Formats: sequence, C-alpha cells, structure tokens
Amino acid sequence: MTANEYKVIQNFLNQSCGIVLSDSKQYLVKNRLSGLLSKFDLASFTELASALQTNSSLSTKLKISVVDAMTTNETFWFRDDMQFLELKEKIFPEIFAKKSGTVKVWSAACSSGQEPYTISMCADDAMKKSGKNHNVQIIGTDISETILQEAKSATYSELALSRGLDAQTKAQMFQKTHDGYKLNADVVRKVRFQQFNLLKPFSVLGRFDVIFCRNVLIYFSDEVKRDILSRMALSLEPGGYIFLSSTEAMPISIKEFEPVRGGRARYFRKVS
Ligand SMILES: C[S@@+](CC[C@H](N)C(=O)[O-])C[C@H]1O[C@@H](n2cnc3c(N)ncnc32)[C@H](O)[C@@H]1O
Repeated sequence: MTANEYKVIQNFLNQSCGIVLSDSKQYLVKNRLSGLLSKFDLASFTELASALQTNSSLSTKLKISVVDAMTTNETFWFRDDMQFLELKEKIFPEIFAKKSGTVKVWSAACSSGQEPYTISMCADDAMKKSGKNHNVQIIGTDISETILQEAKSATYSELALSRGLDAQTKAQMFQKTHDGYKLNADVVRKVRFQQFNLLKPFSVLGRFDVIFCRNVLIYFSDEVKRDILSRMALSLEPGGYIFLSSTEAMPISIKEFEPVRGGRARYFRKVS
C-alpha cells in the first residue's frame, strides 16, 4: 500500500464515519482490509483506493465493508456493571416516579445488541420492583448494518453468553435453539434497531431520557467528540442522563452535563 493509497483510505474513513487514523496505523489498515481485495475482486490496494473515490453499487458495498472491517464491535453483557446498577436502582425508579409517558433510552453505538438488551433487562427489574408497568422504548443504533443484523436476531453463541452473564440470568433469559441461544421475547420487545451514523443530525431519532454513548467516541477527533456530545445534550430531556464508558472522560469544554455525585459509577446529568 502506497502512502497515497493510505491517505485515500484515511480520508474516506474520516469523512464517512469520523474515524481518525494516525499515519502509524498503515500496517493495521493493510491487515484488516487485505481480505476485501479477493472478496471484491480487486487486484491491489490501488484499485481499492480508486473504488473508494467513485460512486457505484459495487463501491457502496465496498465502502460498507471497509467501515465494518475498520470498526471494533467488542461488547458484552452488563459491561461496566456498576453503571447498570445505577440505571436499575436509581435512574429508572426516578424517571418512573416522575414520568407517566414513554421512557426513551438510546444506545448510540450498540454493536451486536448486548448494551440495549442489558438496558431492557434493567428496565424489567426496575418495573418489577416498582410494581407498576411503564412503557419503555430502547433504540439501538450503529453505523454497521452487518452487526445490526446480529443484534436484531437476538441470538447469541455460548461464548457471547459467557461474557458478563451469570448462570441464573443465562438460564432464565435464553432458550437454546438450533443456531445458538435466543433471548426472551419480553426483553427483545422493548428494543428497536436502526442503522445510524453519529456524524448525522440526531433530530430524526427524537428525544431521550437516557443516552448510552460508550466505547465509540474513542474513534473520533476531539472536535467531532465535542460536537457529538453537544448534540446529544440537545437530544436529552431536561435532567436526562448520559453514560460514557468508565474509561472515557467528558471533555472539559462541554458544559451541558454535570457529573452525578455519590453514585457507584461515573455518569452525567444534563444541566437544565
Ligand atoms: C466497541 S463497540 C461499542 C459497543 C457498546 N456501546 C459497548 O460499549 O459495549 C463500537 C461501535 O461503534 C460503532 N461505530 C463506529 N463509528 C460509528 C459512527 N460514526 N456512527 C455510529 N456507530 C459507529 C461500531 O460499528 C461499533 O459497533
């Protein structure tokens, strides 16, 4: 891969989905994309780079595959478990007590679905505890159609189940089928999935009481990160909550959120 071809790929990823790749990542890019050459019948990275600069149905498919290959879909159940404890024991009870209409939660880079389905399980637990049913709608969005197909199937391998779930939850929540373990319909019903690029305007998605935006901002430049977080503030109801991952910091220039003090996990409330 020449320096020019690498530049084309860097620019494509930055413009289409905000991914920032430093010049030192050429080896990683080559590794991840070399499988696409034979898949798309391309003789070299020269052809791949020029296909990324054209508009055709083949290049559209190639562009989707390049994004898929370059993003990491790592996720698991109850990831950062203390955050879900706060959601279940503090946030949902607080929202249920003050809101009679639909409670809306956005999992903003949901990968194969473990995050929105974990949120759905927490909502069920909180409703059981409150003794009252509430209408909870969870939307899981991701840029990758391929990973959303997995999320929509709500069927997971034994390995995926072994990551973050205890034996009791596994037994209660999943049914063995011919191709894996299918999640209970009650948990699945509250979640809907939509392909969505976080660089695009959020207004089409509506407003939310809680947003999960975890382990995705790492891909973006500081400027894009700040832009996404400011726009997320506009998509939150007054006093709504946002979760970043426990290793991600809220940029100091973002004044729309304040950290919630005294909890067992770090998360933020919209300053209304
Ligand atoms: C590491 S996963 C995070 C999954 C989950 N939020 C978690 O913390 O376990 C990152 C996800 O971000 C998605 N992604 C990357 N760039 C994106 C963009 N511009 N818009 C929407 N999703 C994006 C990837 O497809 C991937 O599924």
